[in-house]
Amino acid sequence: MVPNVRQRPGSRLLAAAPLLVLALLLLALAACESRPPLDPAAAQIAEGREIFFNETFAGNGRTCGTCHRAEDNFGLTPAFIATLPPDDPLFVAESNPNLAQNFENPRLMRAFALILENQDGFDDLANNFNMRGVPHTLALPTSVASAAGPRTGWSGDGAPGDGSLRAFATGAVIQHFPLTTNRIPGVDFRLPSDEELDALEAFQLSLGRQEELALPLALEGVVAARGQEIFLDNTLGKCNACHFNAGANGDPNIFGPGAGNLNFDTGVEALPDQPADLTGEPVPPDDGFGTPGDGTFNTPTLVEAADTGPFFHNNSVETIEGAVAFYNGDAFNSSPAGQLLVGATGSGINLDGTQVVAVAAFLRVINALENIRAAIALLEQSRDEKRGAARESLRLAVFETEDAIQVLAGGGLHPAAAIHLEEARRLARKAARSFFQRGRLTRQAIEEQEKARDELVE
Ligand code: HEC
Ligand code: HEC
Repeated sequence: MVPNVRQRPGSRLLAAAPLLVLALLLLALAACESRPPLDPAAAQIAEGREIFFNETFAGNGRTCGTCHRAEDNFGLTPAFIATLPPDDPLFVAESNPNLAQNFENPRLMRAFALILENQDGFDDLANNFNMRGVPHTLALPTSVASAAGPRTGWSGDGAPGDGSLRAFATGAVIQHFPLTTNRIPGVDFRLPSDEELDALEAFQLSLGRQEELALPLALEGVVAARGQEIFLDNTLGKCNACHFNAGANGDPNIFGPGAGNLNFDTGVEALPDQPADLTGEPVPPDDGFGTPGDGTFNTPTLVEAADTGPFFHNNSVETIEGAVAFYNGDAFNSSPAGQLLVGATGSGINLDGTQVVAVAAFLRVINALENIRAAIALLEQSRDEKRGAARESLRLAVFETEDAIQVLAGGGLHPAAAIHLEEARRLARKAARSFFQRGRLTRQAIEEQEKARDELVE
């Protein structure tokens, strides 16, 4: 049957009007969401981020982000490993028969987040290797330069190459990415291009703190404030001599201006009862810098330490209190570095229980302050971003906030700050889900972060 109601031409247009309005609305929204083009430096960092988290270099499926997890402070802990599915590329040695031998030790990886490294070359895979923890890649602009050249990796030799971040990335691909342990470039993986190395370097340098602290800080907590005094006292804690301003560089007043990031043999290898050794798995002694090694390791920064345990190059100490207490023991005091202190100051390091806890409290508080700084920066950044990018920034801000909560709670510190941090976390999570309230919720989250900071420092 032919419909008896004829449509006039105009009414068709009228019927389409709501659709047109919708299309216009969507267009307007899309315009709001688009950003101005990135400047060249920002574009290079964005390219580096993409490579860091997604590029497998035609290898076994791993990326840099497989071990340097954004959710885990760009490092790796046993607790985080436990959350990963069995098919995560971290575990290639468990699933790829070509990598079953001499590539990783799955037991030590899962229990202690230890990674197999062939710092001294690939000639004798069965015997010549080290088991090392994954250092974070934060605050690198403050922790690589030294008078003797760049220092990367736990032993500072950049394994292999000149120790620069660029050389380190190439070394990481050869070490961790191959399809087989033959490690033939072009077959087992491809090498990064110059452009990729530049982008990776720019991205890594952009991560975390860009400046040194200026100690002392006006800390509110009496215990952390005392810990700071002990840390800075060259006749008591003596920490500041090597970890100047709680960073990775030698005190210029002692080691000369521009000494930068130094290597020491602090005797960590001599610790008794190291967790990895207790398993009975093969853990050859780590000879540190150079080939053959001279037993020295590179000084890490401490601002980021408290929430990035386990500690030291071999993940031998689980808690920050234990890492501070290490300096009172025989392993340190009879080491070449300990003997250096005896020579220079008449004694080694000898802190009592209360003092160990105070220094650790100080390290916990400066770590929480860094978490808060990073969280605020991410929250601020999210306000200028498209929805997808903003959600990612908010997600990372939540991780930073959780780290601050945990690192304070672990030392029984500043419970009032934790209340503000918990509220900040709730608001950031809600902002990530919200379409219309994102700006307001993010602003409130920043205010809560600032209130938490005011509890820690004047
Ligand atoms: C399988 C795990 C794993 C993967 C994948 C991995 N790394 Fe690492 N990374 C480590 C370990 C372990 C160390 C410590 C090595 C050492 O002491 O020589 C390290 C150290 C580093 C350091 C030194 C940090 C410092 O403070 O000195 C940088 C930089 C780094 N990695 C960058 C990268 C880049 C870039 C990639 C990707 C191309 C990558 N890593 C892939 C495990 C990994
Ligand atoms: C002689 C130089 C020197 C002195 C003094 C010194 N350190 Fe260290 N520190 C190092 C070096 C080198 C390492 C890396 C050792 C390793 O991994 O084998 C290190 C590592 C650490 C770590 C582990 C960080 C991580 O991310 O794993 C902590 C924590 C630490 N030191 C705290 C302190 C404290 C607290 C003091 C003072 C009580 C102190 N240090 C004094 C040189 C020094």
